[in-house]
Amino acid sequence: MSPENRLEIAVDIARHAGRLIAEAREEGGIEHRFKHGQELVTDTDVEVDTYIGERLQASFPDEHRLSEELAPDREALEHIQDMWVVDPIDGTVNFAHGLRHVAVSIGWVSGGHLKLGVVHAPFLDETFTALAGRGAWRNGEPIHASRTRKLGRCLVGTGFPHRRDSRPPLMRRLVAVLTHCQDVRRNGSAALDLCDVACGRLDAYYESVSPWDFAAGLLIAREAGARTGHLYPGPGGIPEELYGENLLVTSPALYDELGNLLRRADTSDLEPF
Ligand code: IPD
Ligand code: CA
Ligand code: CA
Repeated sequence: MSPENRLEIAVDIARHAGRLIAEAREEGGIEHRFKHGQELVTDTDVEVDTYIGERLQASFPDEHRLSEELAPDREALEHIQDMWVVDPIDGTVNFAHGLRHVAVSIGWVSGGHLKLGVVHAPFLDETFTALAGRGAWRNGEPIHASRTRKLGRCLVGTGFPHRRDSRPPLMRRLVAVLTHCQDVRRNGSAALDLCDVACGRLDAYYESVSPWDFAAGLLIAREAGARTGHLYPGPGGIPEELYGENLLVTSPALYDELGNLLRRADTSDLEPF
């Protein structure tokens, strides 16, 4: 099947999944549960993951799937090069709190490379798509990353892990960015942060996240002209495009300068604030 046809099916699945999310919010009574101690999850996360899994299975029988709630098998990344990567709800905390930055994220990887991505935001009426080598679109219109060149004009998106004990080391980066860049946004959906970089609303994004959080959005940002990479080299053994530690995605001119700032923050080699 052609990548275009795959994308068409993935968009249809993501939009239907988005309807399930919107219906669940309308019905109300969303119960807050916690996995791994501090990470919020709702029944809707599991229901939507099940729905997407069934639709992918029907259209692409027996193609491998990595998904946050039902198949979070990260070890698969070491030996499987072709797979669907799914986050049924990116922005679960937003979803459970009635906020609007919520997205369905579906990416497809072949030969260890991102080939297509869909990020659909049901409460914002936005569907972002990309095909490797062909470009990126918002609701069918081509999108482009910002051309911001000055660090002081750079609006930066980021996020923080659910585990509170993993947050303190990130404060140094946050202080550095608040000191040297225009400002910071923490919108609560990595997938949408990447799409906001893709359409020039944000100039940059950095964070450490899981493959399902960023696979689709990373391709969308790259195809829109953003520069994508990592602050530090990956460990090898898994496809670089699915390695989520220390991601850095920026308008092309800012990549080196912002990367240096964040690395210097990690080692505290910065002017006093
Ligand atoms: C989270 C969101 C958030 C990011 C977290 C992710 P979830 O995904 O993408 O923006 O900061 O690290 O875990 O849990 O809502 O699917
Ligand atoms: Ca997520
Ligand atoms: Ca999720």
